[in-house]
Amino acid sequence: NLLVHIFKPLSFLSVIQHCSPAWCLCSSWWGGVQMGPPDPILGVTEAFKRDTNPKKMNLGVGAYRDDQGKPYVLNCVRKAEAVIAEKKLDKEYLPIGGLGEFAKACAQLALGADNEVLKSGRNITVQTISGTGSLRIGANFLSRFHGGPRDVYLPKPSWGNHTPIFRDAGMQLKAYRYYDPSTCGFDFKGALEDISKIPEQSVIVLHACAHNPTGVDPRPEQWKEISDLVKKRNLLVFFDMAYQGFASGDIDRDAWAVRHFIEQGHNIVLSQSFAKNMGLYGERVGGFTVVCKDAEEAKRVESQLKILIRPIYSNPPMNGARIATTILNTPELRAMWLEEVHGMANRIIKMREQLVAGLKKEGSSHNWQHVIDQIGMFCFTGLKPEQVERLTKEFSVYMTKDGRISMAGVSSGNVGYLAHGIHAVTK
Ligand SMILES: Cc1ncc(COP(=O)(O)O)c(C=O)c1O
Repeated sequence: NLLVHIFKPLSFLSVIQHCSPAWCLCSSWWGGVQMGPPDPILGVTEAFKRDTNPKKMNLGVGAYRDDQGKPYVLNCVRKAEAVIAEKKLDKEYLPIGGLGEFAKACAQLALGADNEVLKSGRNITVQTISGTGSLRIGANFLSRFHGGPRDVYLPKPSWGNHTPIFRDAGMQLKAYRYYDPSTCGFDFKGALEDISKIPEQSVIVLHACAHNPTGVDPRPEQWKEISDLVKKRNLLVFFDMAYQGFASGDIDRDAWAVRHFIEQGHNIVLSQSFAKNMGLYGERVGGFTVVCKDAEEAKRVESQLKILIRPIYSNPPMNGARIATTILNTPELRAMWLEEVHGMANRIIKMREQLVAGLKKEGSSHNWQHVIDQIGMFCFTGLKPEQVERLTKEFSVYMTKDGRISMAGVSSGNVGYLAHGIHAVTK
């Protein structure tokens, strides 16, 4: 018996060695697969890792860092983890739509606990694999059930992953003007002009707050006009809210646009992520909500979401959802969380101010007000690709070619160096 175990694998190996490539299983199934380009953001991190300059800065990736430049685990998260560990809970599968308590708390966070939609049960919210998973489930749902045109209108520019998410789900991508390079601000007029021409019943994607990559958000009066116009055009609104609390430090203020649209009668769909606002990046916690006409419609939509999710990942992971639920539903931890989100947002706002002060100190004569006016994790500096290249080559400051920097990677220790570098390549 032992000899069989030893010789069987060996005889298999000798067959492989002598086989002809034409029929051999190990020859190649994938000879026609072309080398794909690296991910533009993760590629920046790779280059950063290879750099040996001690002053190097990675401003490419959108993950929060503390003022020492270290990844930050929120204290409320640590406490919630301890509470959960203490309970010695089981590891059974979650339902297809995830942890029920989480879905409820997630919708309440976005819509506000006393929203009429929640009271009348005309929403369906499922737990998803963070914001990306939520967008993809949403895109698949639209692809299967949206009766209107297959066109999805994204702001120009938008988060780089929006295009492949919707495209891979079988939707077609279009764009509306959003960012004005001449002011480094919101192109309100351009956006309204473009939106007014979008064919009725198309899908429009709106970033709820802290627009990525520009850091430029409409003001409340501008949101109101956008809402009116979108209603006139009868567009289906897909809100992406990946930064609730991260923009202003106030979760209700950051959800203002979402709540306003609902109040105005838009039956929106909504993606949420807890990656940034709870620092749960790798836990993959998110939610997808469809606001329906009534509770009966919500039930039907729910049944189809389950049918859609089941063959993709069956059911979502539980650990992060338990953490988020514990924080949201425990008054003491929730209060701690609100304070910590506020702290993260404030540190970023402070860094924006210090960067501009540093540029002035360096003697820059450019107007850098947009760095302060923009909001959230990212700042669209307005640097040209050649200037970005110089900043990387000469100062080891890494960022995406579009001139976007993650303010979360800036600290009191390196903001002066960054100001010095930016001034050197822009004077
Ligand atoms: C606009 C936007 N939407 C969605 C996401 C989704 O992120 P995650 O899948 O990590 O929740 C991000 C993350 O960078 C984002 O910036």
